Amino acid sequence: MKTYVVGNWKLNFNVGEASIYLHKLLKSLPNYRDVEIVVAPSTLALQPLSLQIDRHKMKLAAQNGFYRDYGAFTGEVSFSQLKGLVDYALIGHSERRYVLKEDDKMIQKKVAAALRNKIKPILCIGETESERAFGETADAIRDQLLGGLGEVSDDDLEKVIIAYEPVWAISSTKGAKMAAPDEIAGVVSLIRKILTETYGKESAKKVAVLFGGSVTPANAGAYLTIPGVNGVLVGGASLILREFIDIIDIAKRVQA
Ligand code: PGA
Repeated sequence: MKTYVVGNWKLNFNVGEASIYLHKLLKSLPNYRDVEIVVAPSTLALQPLSLQIDRHKMKLAAQNGFYRDYGAFTGEVSFSQLKGLVDYALIGHSERRYVLKEDDKMIQKKVAAALRNKIKPILCIGETESERAFGETADAIRDQLLGGLGEVSDDDLEKVIIAYEPVWAISSTKGAKMAAPDEIAGVVSLIRKILTETYGKESAKKVAVLFGGSVTPANAGAYLTIPGVNGVLVGGASLILREFIDIIDIAKRVQA
């Protein structure tokens, strides 16, 4: 399986800044066959960047999309409109769950809509700080995983990527709340167990599971070598070109 390095730019970079960053990134990247490099810019930048990108080197992801293909949904962008521009879409990121109030039912419909439009969903799941403190991590993970995958058939499962992002570990790149690899390993093995129970061993083992939450060049190696982890989802550090390239290099070394 490939190793994934996905950069989530969140609400950063205007179209011009995104284009300059992408230009520099493409210039410094060789062709990495075994590392799938993906960036998720703002929706506005997807169209121009899709013309600029070299798809042999890297891919684009949307940060979100709407679950209906068209209709009276003011302000939304559908996966049918994103089709052709992106290969992947983040769905159910914790900022969408907790700031924008998306629930598992909506996320389930978004995962189905992405697949229907030939876009691979990166389904983000993770427990909050208080769920962790009250020993509810396993329940939260099970609910979000099975909720998000509710409309995914056995055949489609391998097109879905799971990103485990403990909410308490996000945006803490200074290391204040860095997640211990041992703790992550336990949750990743739970995710794989639930996938196996639900879809069977053969289908479950084709699913890539990523880790995200304050990933930096300093800790990427430790996360990428956790058994069952196939990549990283990087927020803050992906905005700094040198750091993102360093993380890609680490992924390449781990894969080799
Ligand atoms: P972070 O963000 O790397 O800045 O913690 C990760 C994410 O939210 O996807």
